[in-house]
Amino acid sequence: MSPSLSAVSLTALVAAAQGVRGAYYPSAKYAALEHLLVDSTGHNANTFYKAVTPCGNYVSENSTKTGRVTSAQWMRVAFHDFATADVAAGTGGLDASIVFEYTRPENSGQAFPDSFNYWKYYVGAQTSFSDIIALGTVAAISSCGGPQLVYSAGRIDATAAGQFGVPEPDEGLTDTLARFAGAGISQTDAIKLTACGHTVGSVHHAGFPLVVGTDAVNANNTQGGINMDTTGTTYDNRIAQEYVAGTTKNPLVTSFNVSQRSDLRLFSSDNNATMSTLAESSSLFASECKRLTTQMLNTVPSGVSLTEITPIAVKPVNVTLTVNSAGTVTFSGAIRVSSE
Ligand code: HEM
Ligand SMILES: *[C@@H]1O[C@H](CO)[C@@H](O)[C@H](O)[C@H]1NC(C)=O
Ligand SMILES: *[C@@H]1O[C@H](CO)[C@@H](O)[C@H](O)[C@H]1NC(C)=O
Ligand SMILES: *[C@@H]1O[C@H](CO)[C@@H](O)[C@H](O)[C@H]1NC(C)=O
Ligand SMILES: *[C@@H]1O[C@H](CO)[C@@H](O)[C@H](O)[C@H]1NC(C)=O
Ligand SMILES: *[C@@H]1O[C@H](CO)[C@@H](O)[C@H](O)[C@H]1NC(C)=O
Repeated sequence: MSPSLSAVSLTALVAAAQGVRGAYYPSAKYAALEHLLVDSTGHNANTFYKAVTPCGNYVSENSTKTGRVTSAQWMRVAFHDFATADVAAGTGGLDASIVFEYTRPENSGQAFPDSFNYWKYYVGAQTSFSDIIALGTVAAISSCGGPQLVYSAGRIDATAAGQFGVPEPDEGLTDTLARFAGAGISQTDAIKLTACGHTVGSVHHAGFPLVVGTDAVNANNTQGGINMDTTGTTYDNRIAQEYVAGTTKNPLVTSFNVSQRSDLRLFSSDNNATMSTLAESSSLFASECKRLTTQMLNTVPSGVSLTEITPIAVKPVNVTLTVNSAGTVTFSGAIRVSSE
């Protein structure tokens, strides 16, 4: 989205006056999130999107030699928070219970502390941690060239750890599919959602030494990361094309350790039928990833209801109107006018 702030005209001023309620659109509770969602570039841009701009940026270190990517980390954190949802029981999902769970072996990796350290400044009285986790994935996918997701907010944070059960690379297919099913995801959709996640980012020797060997580590790749497709910082269907063509370097397909080939077991569980459809159509990949990632982000404990955050077209920011004794009206502040 590319909103812009334009010079104040009388028309805009009138619109602003009429829109004062809109200054807190859709409510005071969601004004801050609307700003994070919409003001991604230009004047009054928030710093949230900067962390994932460009897609390959790594915000937690100066060095590019770690091979780590913030947008990929944010998506992975959202998946791990979601993965232990039990939709039948109405528990888990996007509830930020991951902050109590990230030291579990099933949540191995630098993604968790890195993301939490960045996000904590955005969490506040009106903004839950789980809404920030979800926004992180919306921002990351958009920055990496994927579809623009509709963002909804209103998630409520857990106050304690939840269930175990994030799929691991050496888990058998039956158990993995059972975990996805518990979270409301069918076999076909599990294949798709995993391909959607693994289109960006890497498997790192650091964190997953049983998947990626020491040979991946060198002075330019200090964590020994191997991308899961050759466009590791683009949200595209290359992950499926290379898999189907048999040229993939995805460690979760090709690992020296057969027991760690979780993507191969999952992707081939329907004789590669689903991966073939994704490989054939980039628009199908985008639309299915949009559908399933939205489902993932909007899976919340029962009793939690979400509100769609739609960008307001004309949004006054810090607007004050003062009238002096001579009757002169002075406007200060800014008005954001959507260019779409
Ligand atoms: C069977 C299911 C899955 C398994 C076993 C699995 C396992 C893994 C492993 C071992 C890594 C490497 C992490 C690292 O080295 O830092 C990884 C990376 C990643 N996974 Fe998954 N994953 C699964 C499904 C998903 C799903 C459904 C998503 C999102 C929708 C997802 C998103 C990601 C992302 C974005 C990365 C890259 C992280 C980075 O580069 O820092 N994964 N996955
Ligand atoms: C970035 O580099 C500076 C100077 O070398 C260092 O002081 C700082 O700790 C580094 N930041 C991170 C996040 O590593
Ligand atoms: C392969 O992974 C399994 C765990 O799934 C581990 O027990 C085994 O030692 C690993 N093999 C090698 C050669 O690293
Ligand atoms: C690291 O990158 C530099 C600059 O591109 C290159 O000259 C060097 O050979 C690389 N080192 C390794 C171990 O790949
Ligand atoms: C599915 O694709 C993988 C990766 O290209 C290949 O190794 C496997 O043999 C294929 N399986 C079937 C049943 O076609
Ligand atoms: C609104 O006021 C806040 C606090 O003074 C400031 O940080 C922000 O940049 C202002 N926004 C605009 C668009 O002037």
